[in-house]
Amino acid sequence: MDAKSPSQSCTTLTDLVLPSETNPLNNLFGGELLARMDRAASIAARRHSRRIVVTASVNHVAFNRSIALGSVVTIEAKVSRAFSTSMEVFIDVWIEDRESGARSKANEAIYTFVAVDDMGLPVKVPAISPESKLEKDRYDGALRRKQLSLVLAGKMKPSEATELKAIFEE
Ligand SMILES: CC(C)(COP(=O)(O)OP(=O)(O)OC[C@H]1O[C@@H](n2cnc3c(N)ncnc32)[C@H](O)[C@@H]1OP(=O)(O)O)[C@@H](O)C(=O)NCCC(=O)NCCS
Repeated sequence: MDAKSPSQSCTTLTDLVLPSETNPLNNLFGGELLARMDRAASIAARRHSRRIVVTASVNHVAFNRSIALGSVVTIEAKVSRAFSTSMEVFIDVWIEDRESGARSKANEAIYTFVAVDDMGLPVKVPAISPESKLEKDRYDGALRRKQLSLVLAGKMKPSEATELKAIFEE
């Protein structure tokens, strides 16, 4: 399988915040944003792998800013690193000012997807070659985040998490 670039998986979803999607403060409900991010990220993982993909882990979510009713929300998802059968997907969430149209970053998240066959068994995915500086930075940190996620899920012994240990030994 030939390596792909992150831009080949780039997925953008733009939608409004409607009243049924808000909390009592009239801001976007967190679970609604998680679902929107999951949809965009799963499309990105599918574009990279061209396989069925399932969400294996929500590695990180930062709800830095609330998103008001009526906002136009744009979610951008891109595969940041492909491993053997799993893919890390970075998600950036933007809102735009109604009058100027200027975009500002509201939130970000990192999800892990696994490509599977018709029986739900993991299958190999193409490698990825980052191009921009941001893509390279995200690629470089992905193994550390994968190890952290596996340790937290009880699927890896902390003593085997070499990349994580390296942070503390620096
Ligand atoms: C995701 C799933 C396929 C993994 O199955 P598994 O038996 O753990 O398979 P493996 O141990 O071979 O792991 C497959 C890959 O997932 C990665 N992985 C598994 N759990 C992970 C986690 N918590 N965080 C990060 N990566 C994880 C493994 O490291 C491996 O990656 P690699 O092949 O690229 O090295 C399986 O757990 C599953 O089907 N889960 C349900 C998915 C789902 O329904 N999601 C929607 C939730 S409603």
